[in-house]
Amino acid sequence: MINPPYYASDSRYDGEMKYERCGRSGLLLPRISLGMWHNFGDVNTLANSREMLHFAFDHGITCFDLANNYGPSYGSAEETFGLIMEKSFRPYRDEMVITTKAGHDMWPGPYGNWGSRKYLMASLHQSLRRMKLEYVDIFYSHRFDPETPMEETLQALVDMVRQGKALYVGISQWPYEAAQFAYDYLAAHDTPCLIYQGRSNMMDREKEREGIIRQAAENGVGYTAFSPLEQGILTDRYLNGIPQGSRASIGKFLKADRITPELVARLRQLNELAARRGQSLTQMSLAWLLKDSNVTSVIIGSSSVSQIRDSLGCLNNLTFSPEELQDIDRILFG
Ligand SMILES: NC(=O)c1ccc[n+]([C@@H]2O[C@H](COP(=O)([O-])OP(=O)(O)OC[C@H]3O[C@@H](n4cnc5c(N)ncnc54)[C@H](OP(=O)(O)O)[C@@H]3O)[C@@H](O)[C@H]2O)c1
Repeated sequence: MINPPYYASDSRYDGEMKYERCGRSGLLLPRISLGMWHNFGDVNTLANSREMLHFAFDHGITCFDLANNYGPSYGSAEETFGLIMEKSFRPYRDEMVITTKAGHDMWPGPYGNWGSRKYLMASLHQSLRRMKLEYVDIFYSHRFDPETPMEETLQALVDMVRQGKALYVGISQWPYEAAQFAYDYLAAHDTPCLIYQGRSNMMDREKEREGIIRQAAENGVGYTAFSPLEQGILTDRYLNGIPQGSRASIGKFLKADRITPELVARLRQLNELAARRGQSLTQMSLAWLLKDSNVTSVIIGSSSVSQIRDSLGCLNNLTFSPEELQDIDRILFG
């Protein structure tokens, strides 16, 4: 049977999702965004990808995070998104914030990696074709390139906005000093940086320690946290071994040897603490990030609708007592 047409849920803005202003911009972002790094490539079933995207949008997730090389294969997550755009999302395009990035390995030769204008411009054109879009809402420099003059990378971002191919720009994983240069350069060229995308979660506190989250706020720039669940470690996924098909079982980006008995013992304690708060471990992990109003959004990954449903539940309780915060630190680092 042919798939029935998609009509977005009428209740998608009924209050389940909360929206937060992104820095000093006019743009509101959902506190939970959906990332397509894993599980949306051409090795995955289109049916599952479609179901997850529809479910997310039906529950107020308006921000979809992509990059040129998400898959596998490279480009195929954007192609999947393009298929869904054509088949079901097109009438809702203006209700969505669609992002892409370039900066990591994409195609062979000297022009398919890092931060040159040549690479970034070509990559954006390819991304737009794959996603069947005229423009993206946010284009990110995916990483800092120590060998390309920062002015060249940043001017490419400015020009994308001037050409109408991106509405806003952001940077991801840039170090502190370079990020300040970027904020100043972009502001001086009438294209204020919208957002910093950085790796943060209960286990990975580096961006907080380095002052990157505070720096973004001070510069009127939003902050969005990626891998908020430490690729699945900060959920119940690995409490009873390594399930078939899980990221640790695939072992490319999350190695199975990280799931040690000592780590699992700590996760079990966290799981109990979450239960006392009336939350799943996934929900407590996301709430821990979202308690900070400088964290505009968290970009979750997912392999099923039920995981997205679980994550959404975090929004019911984003406050922690000082004792709970101390307990989390003691369990993880004590
Ligand atoms: N800017 C950058 O450099 C950068 C780098 C990495 C990621 N990102 C962005 O951030 C997004 C999220 O990254 P991530 O996928 O590492 O995020 P994550 O949310 O830390 O991990 C997602 C994984 O956790 C597991 N999971 C999620 N919800 C669960 C639940 N309720 N119960 C049990 N397990 C659950 C799933 O693992 P299984 O697949 O095993 O089920 C899922 O694939 C990416 O898609 C991408 O958009 C950006």
